[in-house]
Amino acid sequence: MICRSCGSANLKSVISLGNMPLANGLLKSPDEPEETYPLDLVFCPECSLVQISESIDPKKIFKDYKYHSSGSQTMLKSSADLVERTIRERGLSKDSLVVEIASNDGYLLKNYVKAGITVLGFDPCHEIAEVAISNGIRTVDDYFNGSWGYTYKHLTNGADVIHANNVMAHVPDINDFVEGMSILLKPGGVAIIETPYIRDMIDRCEFDTIYHEHVFYYSIVSLITLFRRHGLHVNHIEHLDIHGGSLRVWAGKSHTALNEVGRDLLVDEFYTTIHGDYYKDFGKRAENIKHDLTALLRRIKSQGKNIVGYAASAKGSTLMNYCGIGQYLDYVVDNTPSKQGLYTPGTHLKIYPPEKLLEDRPDYALLLAWNFADEIMDKEHEYVKRGGKFIIPIPKVRVV
Ligand code: TMP
Repeated sequence: MICRSCGSANLKSVISLGNMPLANGLLKSPDEPEETYPLDLVFCPECSLVQISESIDPKKIFKDYKYHSSGSQTMLKSSADLVERTIRERGLSKDSLVVEIASNDGYLLKNYVKAGITVLGFDPCHEIAEVAISNGIRTVDDYFNGSWGYTYKHLTNGADVIHANNVMAHVPDINDFVEGMSILLKPGGVAIIETPYIRDMIDRCEFDTIYHEHVFYYSIVSLITLFRRHGLHVNHIEHLDIHGGSLRVWAGKSHTALNEVGRDLLVDEFYTTIHGDYYKDFGKRAENIKHDLTALLRRIKSQGKNIVGYAASAKGSTLMNYCGIGQYLDYVVDNTPSKQGLYTPGTHLKIYPPEKLLEDRPDYALLLAWNFADEIMDKEHEYVKRGGKFIIPIPKVRVV
């Protein structure tokens, strides 16, 4: 294979997680047949990008996409804060156009609509785009790409702001995608991108954030290289706690010096992420977590206690399948209505509403969405008060 960003054929292996089903491929029945695909990560020494080696048609991955961003208070608050800040910093008015790529159910754009600003969303999932449209958010139910960039460049004066949160990791033809953003952006406009940061994934051993939907695992160097190819300059970077550690990057058509946080992160990358050696012991550390988690669950079961999973998340799929722990769990709970009643990929555990936790009061709940640990444990304080315990698997297996 060649690097999807720079075209280099000189790719180095980072980790192999084995054959896995699609992490969001929830099943309608426990014996529904499912396909599995190799889940291997490689590093490109030429442009510093980490990516999966297997190419899977996004239409297969996103056809039944169930995730509604509005399901998480953490995400809603973070989006509302960003919108308030962007309107203020960019002096946006009723004549401005804000575009969001992967606009989901309109969780972010609705804040601009409230402020009277014109918006346009793109989301390939028809069902979720319909939810946004019914809430008054203009949405195109398709994948954003270079052609859509051209089309809306002609239909509008161009975008003042383009948001792309947690989508750049998912798009295999990333050059066409960034070219589309560059075409659509006004000369003085800004693209604001959020994407998980490879340094956090490696340093905190978040191997469960690897799944086929996540084609790319970005460093700053890889982002700068990619954007520059399409006439965009990274001008400001912030490091967020969200999703186990993410970058928020501001890019535009003109160049300004990076802010101090951005400079420090970039300098650190010259000692870490740009070298193949940095990824060397990642596989071994993932194996250690697998060993510790399996040993803990086995011990709990041998004491006659029961365990359920909390959140039918994509990372939960990688964690359960890689560690082979489905056999220790009775079921999974999740607050997304469209996931309830379905079965987890590979492990075939039934998904119930979170209320079941209080009804059954299992001894342990394995947190499969540790990125929302505070929010979930807050919500489930009654379960904890009545003696229930959470197991948090990443970055180190622990019981709380
Ligand atoms: P994801 O990390 O793959 O997006 O999945 C996160 C899942 O966590 C999603 O299905 C919703 C679920 N969830 C809950 O069940 N309860 C909660 O309080 C939160 C924040 C998320």
